[in-house]
Amino acid sequence: MLSDPHSPALNVKQNRILLIIGGGIAAYKCLDLVRRLREQGVSVRAVMTRAAAEFVTPLSVGALTSDRVFTDLFDLNDEREIGHICLSREADLVIVAPATADLLAKMAGGHADDLASTILMATDKPVLVAPAMNPRMWLHPATQRNVKQLKNDGIHFVGPNVGEMAERDEAGPGRLAEVPEIIAAAEPHLANSPIARSVTPLRAKRPLTGRHVLVTSGPTHEPIDPVRYIANRSSGKQGHAIAQAAFALGARVTLVTGPVTLPDPEGIKTVHVETAQQMLEAVRRGLPADIAVFAAAVADWRSATIPRQKIKKTGDRPVIDLVENPDILATVANLEAERPQHVIGFAAETRDVIAYAKKKLLAKGADWIIANDVSSTTRVLGGDNNTVHVVTPENVESWPQMSKDEVAERLMLRAAEHLRRTTAAAE
Ligand SMILES: Cc1cc2nc3c(=O)[nH]c(=O)nc-3n(C[C@H](O)[C@H](O)[C@H](O)COP(=O)(O)O)c2cc1C
Repeated sequence: MLSDPHSPALNVKQNRILLIIGGGIAAYKCLDLVRRLREQGVSVRAVMTRAAAEFVTPLSVGALTSDRVFTDLFDLNDEREIGHICLSREADLVIVAPATADLLAKMAGGHADDLASTILMATDKPVLVAPAMNPRMWLHPATQRNVKQLKNDGIHFVGPNVGEMAERDEAGPGRLAEVPEIIAAAEPHLANSPIARSVTPLRAKRPLTGRHVLVTSGPTHEPIDPVRYIANRSSGKQGHAIAQAAFALGARVTLVTGPVTLPDPEGIKTVHVETAQQMLEAVRRGLPADIAVFAAAVADWRSATIPRQKIKKTGDRPVIDLVENPDILATVANLEAERPQHVIGFAAETRDVIAYAKKKLLAKGADWIIANDVSSTTRVLGGDNNTVHVVTPENVESWPQMSKDEVAERLMLRAAEHLRRTTAAAE
């Protein structure tokens, strides 16, 4: 959560958000968003599209921001006193909520024909978009194309969530993310948030210099016959991001990856494997390491026998005899001689995420478990964002939703600090 407005930290400089309100049925929710942000000590300036003013009045928005609300590109007073460039640059972060299908299309196409779209073209600040629309509009190929383009352009997204629509009998993806979710997604981008304050000076010190970090990433493929295999939906994005974050913080990094479509990260020794057994072998060869992060989604089972020839259809139901794969995390965490000083496992669950992670921490002998909910509605598997809980023997820390790159950097900074302390305590 954002810092307490009364805490001394906020005296440093107030966080500033420019909120662009689009013309959707969920526009009324931006009133609550403004209220909650201001409660947290954030200053909010609002811009409304012409359509947004059909759903909520600039008067109510202005009453909550305690500022005038900007709507018109060709307002000469604004150009002299504030101007669209100033509006776009004065904030630490631009939030678009609700982002209509139309606004997403304008952004993706580079249009600048009203105040909102011109600001979005002129800004040099991070932009966080919270889409809200009818599920068919969200799933329309044009919208999906625009979203993909915007993600490639570095625009951050929160939601939309899946659920009931304002229209009767309509449900699906398209609901505006809840206000606390939007605030949690905004936090990492705010210059004076607790996260930003703690990360920036630490990053500059490259605290993993001289350390070896071993990371596993991606899925494993377990053959059934020469042409078929058992797989899972892991993309490797989180594991690869961790390897890159460790490298950026000064570490020598070995990345052991299952089959992924991602390029090998620059400067990092990358070992490609297919199966769980090959991954374990590659990990063992990669040791010793100071930190080992097991982010790969290793198949729990493999087929006991793999015929040389393709299995043919015979009319009978074929039976695949599954046997358990080696447990890479538990194996490495329980090594006598070469156990890395800090062993971090990932726990991907679809329910009771924290409870399972606590059990896994004890059962596997890991130092930390990073737990995340990978049920289909969270879009973690294959997606760009993650919401994780860091489970340690002492406590559970739940981080807000952030990009996988941000999770990676925070995690590696944390691990570096942990390593520094445990090394100092042992000396
Ligand atoms: C009652 C009503 C509700 C609407 N709700 C949405 C919505 O939730 N999301 C959306 O993308 N468009 C919605 N629209 C369509 C937009 O208002 C329309 O595309 C408008 O041009 C958007 O303008 P803007 O993107 O400049 O805000 C709605 C239209 C009406 C009449």
